[in-house]
Amino acid sequence: MTVQMEYRLSQRKSMGNLRELSVVKGDVDFASNDYLGLSRSLDLKETVFQELNSQTRLLNGLGSTGSRLLTGNSEYAEALENRIAAFHGYEAGLLFNCGYMANVGLLSTVAGGDDRIYFDANIHASTLDGIRLSRSQAFPFRHNDIEHLERRLKKGSVKGNRFICIESIYSTDGSVAPLKDICDLSEKYKALLIVDEAHAVGLCGIDGRGLVAEKNCLPHVFAQVSTFGKALGVHGAIVLGSNLLKQSLINFATPMIYTTSLPLHSLAAIKCVYDQLPMLEKEREQLKKLIDVFRRTRKGASLTQIQSIPVQGNEALKKSVLKINRSGFDVRGLMSPTVHKGDERLRICLHAFNSEDELLALLELIK
Ligand SMILES: Cc1ncc(COP(=O)(O)O)c(C=O)c1O
Repeated sequence: MTVQMEYRLSQRKSMGNLRELSVVKGDVDFASNDYLGLSRSLDLKETVFQELNSQTRLLNGLGSTGSRLLTGNSEYAEALENRIAAFHGYEAGLLFNCGYMANVGLLSTVAGGDDRIYFDANIHASTLDGIRLSRSQAFPFRHNDIEHLERRLKKGSVKGNRFICIESIYSTDGSVAPLKDICDLSEKYKALLIVDEAHAVGLCGIDGRGLVAEKNCLPHVFAQVSTFGKALGVHGAIVLGSNLLKQSLINFATPMIYTTSLPLHSLAAIKCVYDQLPMLEKEREQLKKLIDVFRRTRKGASLTQIQSIPVQGNEALKKSVLKINRSGFDVRGLMSPTVHKGDERLRICLHAFNSEDELLALLELIK
């Protein structure tokens, strides 16, 4: 076994894509998913402490002590998921410990052997893992390519259900899904639409409700995944949809059933972030300004806070990242196999706390 492990790692090394942990050094942050700066907000930190201190009567303090189905549930958790579901306009919601577990739990619960899943080629690894566990037949369609998706949907009959899996804003390059067109197709072909809003929640729509809400697509969505560790600056995730979906997840989603649930300090942090979301207009405006600056400077830039610049090949990408890091900017590269070979890129994340001068200096460096 040791030999096999060493062999696999040495292969990775020789292909230039060995993954290694590194510690964040405090350079100017153009890499994290903390788009609104909430993870560093002293104001939010203070309100979370106050919220925690006000909940002394709750039995489970530091740890939740068990899974949701055993001792890890609370009125606090139930009220929180009802509140988040109502905020996003859904009948029900079920908390998961993170977005990865939400996607794996969702796909493996709702889809089975007789079903077919059509997924965007750039979909996140957590959805792919969920699809694998579902044992459904799965078909990728070219990234954001509506015609290709329709050709896929037209082909063959299905015994069970059909699902379409997309992200509203894609994590790799910030591209935006043609949500309305995909909703139309899901109606036309009676496919159930699953939207991962990990990179849209907090940023798009009224008070940061997300892109599904902004585009009025809610009635067409079967399930939405929202995560709290990106623009919301904390941790955890929720699957939103109908009461029936929630009951199915409670019964069959193993990543929710067989794990210790989120502790009170996480729940309190999520609650406080949702309290603050409507008050973050200034931050969302600053982000929009930075996106405009980026778009004015670089042709083909995305419409969102995630920008990417192709640098083909892992070795060339590593060199480019190193050069940028040496100038005091934290920018990361997306190497293959995280992205397809040949599709390697610098991923630049814009934040409400980045200044225009910082961005201009970075853009000058990568000209
Ligand atoms: C699109 C998308 N979905 C899901 C996840 C997983 O979310 P979490 O980090 O909460 O596990 C990520 C995070 O990388 C993501 O980018």
